Amino acid sequence: MVPPLRLASLLLVLLLCTAGANSSSSSSSTPLTKIGNGYRLISIRETPDGGLVGHLVVNKQNNIYGPDLPHLQLFVKHETEDRLRVHITDAETQRWEVPYDLLPREQPPRLKQSIGSLGKNTIAVSEYSGSEFIFSCISDPFGFAVRRKSNGQTLFNSSADGSDPFGSLVFKDQYLEISTKLPKDASLYGLGENTQPHGIKLYPNDPYTLYTTDVSAINLNTDLYGSHPVYMDLRNNGGQPSAHAVLLLNSNGMDVVYRGTSLTYKIIGGVFDFYFFAGPTPLGVVDQYTSFIGRPAPMPYWSLGFHQCRWGYHNLSVVEDVVENYKKAKIPLDVIWNDDDHMDGKKDFTLNSNNYPRPKLLAFLDKIHSIGMKYIVIIDPGIAVNSSYGVYQRGIANDVFIKYAGEPYLAQVWPGAVNFPDFLNPKTVSWWGDEIRRFHELVPVDGLWIDMNEVSNFCSGLCKIPQGKQCPTGTGPGWICCLDCKNITKTRWDDPPYKINASGLQVPIGFKTIATSAVHYNGVLEYDAHSLYGFSQTIATHKALQGLEGKRPFILSRSTYVGSGKYAAHWTGDNQGTWENLRYSISTMINFGIFGVPMVGSDICGFYPQPTEELCNRWIEVGAFYPFSRDHANYYSPRQELYQWDSVAESARNALGMRYKLLPYLYTLNYEAHISGAPIARPLFFSFPSYIECYGLSTQFLLGSSLMVSPVLEQGKSEVKALFPPGTWYSLFDMTQTIASKEGSYVTLDAPLHVVNVHLYQNTILPMQQGGLISKEARMTPFSLVVTFPAGATEGAAKGNIFLDDDELPEMKLGNGYSTYVDFYATLTKGGVKVWSQVQESKFALGKGWYIEKITVLGLNGSGGASALEIDGSPVTGASNIELSTTEHKFLRKLEDGDDKMKAVMVEVSGLSLSVGKNFAISWKMGIKG
Ligand code: GLC
Repeated sequence: MVPPLRLASLLLVLLLCTAGANSSSSSSSTPLTKIGNGYRLISIRETPDGGLVGHLVVNKQNNIYGPDLPHLQLFVKHETEDRLRVHITDAETQRWEVPYDLLPREQPPRLKQSIGSLGKNTIAVSEYSGSEFIFSCISDPFGFAVRRKSNGQTLFNSSADGSDPFGSLVFKDQYLEISTKLPKDASLYGLGENTQPHGIKLYPNDPYTLYTTDVSAINLNTDLYGSHPVYMDLRNNGGQPSAHAVLLLNSNGMDVVYRGTSLTYKIIGGVFDFYFFAGPTPLGVVDQYTSFIGRPAPMPYWSLGFHQCRWGYHNLSVVEDVVENYKKAKIPLDVIWNDDDHMDGKKDFTLNSNNYPRPKLLAFLDKIHSIGMKYIVIIDPGIAVNSSYGVYQRGIANDVFIKYAGEPYLAQVWPGAVNFPDFLNPKTVSWWGDEIRRFHELVPVDGLWIDMNEVSNFCSGLCKIPQGKQCPTGTGPGWICCLDCKNITKTRWDDPPYKINASGLQVPIGFKTIATSAVHYNGVLEYDAHSLYGFSQTIATHKALQGLEGKRPFILSRSTYVGSGKYAAHWTGDNQGTWENLRYSISTMINFGIFGVPMVGSDICGFYPQPTEELCNRWIEVGAFYPFSRDHANYYSPRQELYQWDSVAESARNALGMRYKLLPYLYTLNYEAHISGAPIARPLFFSFPSYIECYGLSTQFLLGSSLMVSPVLEQGKSEVKALFPPGTWYSLFDMTQTIASKEGSYVTLDAPLHVVNVHLYQNTILPMQQGGLISKEARMTPFSLVVTFPAGATEGAAKGNIFLDDDELPEMKLGNGYSTYVDFYATLTKGGVKVWSQVQESKFALGKGWYIEKITVLGLNGSGGASALEIDGSPVTGASNIELSTTEHKFLRKLEDGDDKMKAVMVEVSGLSLSVGKNFAISWKMGIKG
């Protein structure tokens, strides 16, 4: 909970200074940019609730990309102690903004006409005693800076000065530009969706174009399916790291140019609506960010299990076979999916009665549901234009489609000619909800997969159904445009003055999507709302699913925008079965954690073309640790279910076997994501922000704060060189295997084909269960705790936690009578080891009968062995089933090279029956040296 700002202590300083009083001097020698000549601030005043409103007037007009808007309004507000908003728009006319009902936030006040006379070098400074930010701006040419109060560092500075090639603010109807200077050592992350060949850290001069587009994920550095105009900036500050984030809430197409020491936004519409999030830790940043854009959706337990999908399961028997074969191969599987194969002519919400006869499908669903397995199908936004198709008829009757010149806009997707529902229209939302309800009555699906929602169109421009030519109606691939289309270039929306680098090819922005001069509800132009399509569809779908059985919805969406994580999971789209694509999947996955969409993964083994057997082995070893773990393949790829190769099946049993033991941990991470935005899969710098070595690391990742996955990502390798930040790490597969270093180090690990290296960091308590083939059964097995201390330490403390609830409930929270939360603690002292729990809301866990049967403590300095075991203060007698055993650790690397004396042991206490729902304390003595 963020405490409200102390308005009473507001401090607004308005200084009249002379030139040069600020580092961003503004003299008449400031070069003019080519595109605009900047603005001057002529007045600024405080609003009653502590905001600032300023009036900007254009300096000399410049007509490149259209005339400058003459008057702008500046609105600044310290919204919370760690969030600052800077909003700049036309002072005279209302402009397009991300709709306030899709992303709720405060409406800026409208400017009262003001005649001002601020001097040329006036600097306005706004700061609150409670806020971590100081906002300041200079009057002419106008520029603003945001500083961090605690260390005085400038985080954002748009003031023009003579030393940079970029300059002042530009604000035209269809072109907005602003730049910030950046220090050389700032590491930036985000600005997606974009496949980044250079890894997670933004790379100078790589293009970052944001405009939702269906070009496959194999296109590097181009605008992809989602638009997330936010970046995190991490600075080491000589070992005192601090991170902040900058969101530019704007849905129009944009190019973001990062040059290493500056960042420039070039946007084709909307407004500047900046939000600054103060951090200073990376976790603090995502907490503040998601408290604004919406907390990540709670996920049902089963969705953390393994998913199998494929395009081309031609009939139900094939699907039944796949489920059976997973079982036979003893590979875990929770969810089986259908792409559009179950549909009649690829039409949404229909069933093909020959290949997927309803009675048989229902019987199959009964069978899998009875063992806890789930079923998900795809839904595309394109609704087939077909007068005998009920969904279409009702859509027309309710007037739900996007229009062009008053008629539903015609496009082509898998079923042939289609219209696109306009999810900005409340009537569409109701109609869509009703269609989902009807379909759910036909087929009780457990979740929905919404695809092609960028929106993807196989044609471009203005199309009609061709005379005498048959468009594909659901058979064959059908992605070649078969409509009669003509390009629309005559409007300024279809052919805007500034061309973003659309699809990496500078194609027109209406290429293979809806024409940008098409119109949504209330006259909203596709030009403005384009990148919100998937987001608005996600919200409508979520509303529909929530209204059905009142269960927690599961939605997978290809297109996402700021805030999508509140409703949906995401997969990274159509990747390739190549080693490069395996590597890229890690960067995209961890970026989505920063975007507030932590439930994310890539098509395991690649969508197309066929992976090699070796690659598929390595991919499941990574994919088993994606938050969203699904094998999916293209229609034209050969089958690639994990049981298709014996070797892949073995790797899958190993890696997914571990995932299923970790499900209680993953579910707890899902809860933490939901309450604090903490990503499930994270870059290492989230836990080691002062360790610069890991800032760009994109080949390893963390699950939560302490579990590190270091996979093989290259062909023919049976070793992996992995980075180990300072401290002690224990192999999760062989807990005695230990790596310890004071400064952090690279260690070459053995990684034969079926081995993936996963390590657990010191000072952690990891809850695990025994696994199984379906999450429902795995969830009922006994728990164990793995407790880690720094190797050989004589003192230490560790902690962990677990969240348990009824995952069918729509809300994921404590206090509803159906959830339990447990903190686990452990200490190591010279007297020995103590592990205990503190339970909140015990009833739910007690009702389930969960118990802990084993506690394993790693890294103990205890050559003398363990003795005198006590549980809840009572000594454990030899007559009990409880056993205490000690094994020595094997070190791959010690704290200091040559420290051969260092020894440590693992102590395992088994045969326990400690109730998860009850506080316990267990302790024993160690013969500790030192
Ligand atoms: C899109 C999706 C892919 C799906 C295919 C057919 O390409 O990204 O996952 O299999 O459409 O529906």
